[in-house]
Amino acid sequence: MSSEPISFSAESYFATQLPPPTLEHDIAGVRSFISRQQASGRNVVLVTSGGTTVPLELNVVRFLDNFSAGTRGATSAEYFLKSGYAVIFMHRQFSLQPFSRHYSHSTNPFLDFLEIDGISSTSSPPSESPPSESPPSESPPSSDPQITVTPSKRTHLLQVLTAYKQVHASETLHTLTFVTVNDYLWLLRAVSQELSVLNRKAMYYLAAAVSDFFLPRQKMSEHKIQSGKGSLHIEMDQVPKILKPMVDEWTRNGYIVSFKLETDPALLIPKARTSLERYGHQVVIGNDLNRRKFEVVFVERKTKTKNASGQDEFEENWLKIDLSKDKEKEIEEDIVRELVKRHEDWVRGGVLN
Ligand code: PMT
Repeated sequence: MSSEPISFSAESYFATQLPPPTLEHDIAGVRSFISRQQASGRNVVLVTSGGTTVPLELNVVRFLDNFSAGTRGATSAEYFLKSGYAVIFMHRQFSLQPFSRHYSHSTNPFLDFLEIDGISSTSSPPSESPPSESPPSESPPSSDPQITVTPSKRTHLLQVLTAYKQVHASETLHTLTFVTVNDYLWLLRAVSQELSVLNRKAMYYLAAAVSDFFLPRQKMSEHKIQSGKGSLHIEMDQVPKILKPMVDEWTRNGYIVSFKLETDPALLIPKARTSLERYGHQVVIGNDLNRRKFEVVFVERKTKTKNASGQDEFEENWLKIDLSKDKEKEIEEDIVRELVKRHEDWVRGGVLN
């Protein structure tokens, strides 16, 4: 499967790779969502979330994946909504979503929160049930069984459900899905271009884990790769760096936040600075894979100072939470609070970069 690597610019990428079939339909929905938010004067944030796949075959059986459960994106989206933003939530299909994330099948299976009156050993039997000598856990459900929420889970569920219903009623959350890195790139470009009508009132919060390498469709096997020929060698091409055209062409004065994921802590700040220098956006949030739930670093350009050679200077601010003191605390609450402050300055035009 090895052939000469192709060097893709963003332009040549979009000229040679096909858009996802649902793109036009998706973007029509985004357009009407944005125009409703524009009429109401809200700020809008695009949150990207989850990992992108790289298929190895056109009729895809095998693919590579990027690590991300979607926790960062889904949690942040909730805090943006709470802060009055409208949110376009562009996420990997089946990754975590705002509100429902609290009851993910792995951490909090929702069936464990429910009881059928007359069956659970923790619920009291319904008053109309006939007296029974067997314990409640063994009694059969009545012909019209009632489902209730386990008492100890009610307060939290009520909070989540209330926020969810409010967002639903105010129509401030719009959801889009991607699977492959190709879906992601096409959607990101199209949504960014639509959102650019909001100018400074738009924020772009790029928390998705984007593959750096891919297999162009021209090099993909049509059918399932056969295993009879021994080991498999695949040479992948580099995904074009999309932050550059995003800053320079697709968005207009929007406030752009990217994430930098590293596993070597020593690389985090230098790589975040390089990203800011190279792409010219507003903030890079650095996170170490193993510490990302309790510490992140904001890397930004100092707005008023340059060094002796006239180059930008950078500053770093760490956000840390102490999970031993507060197990429920979510670092995304602090990330979003900090970003909302910075974005307010940005909207007022008070930040010079
Ligand atoms: O979902 P969780 O499990 O909670 O995990 C959250 C997270 C760790 C995935 C998230 O916080 C995070 O760090 N996301 C960014 C991961 C990533 O793609 O890092 P990177 O260093 O490969 O890319 C850095 C930036 O470059 C990203 O903002 C990306 O949008 C951008 N990029 C990436 C690829 C590409 N071809 N062009 C780009 O411009």
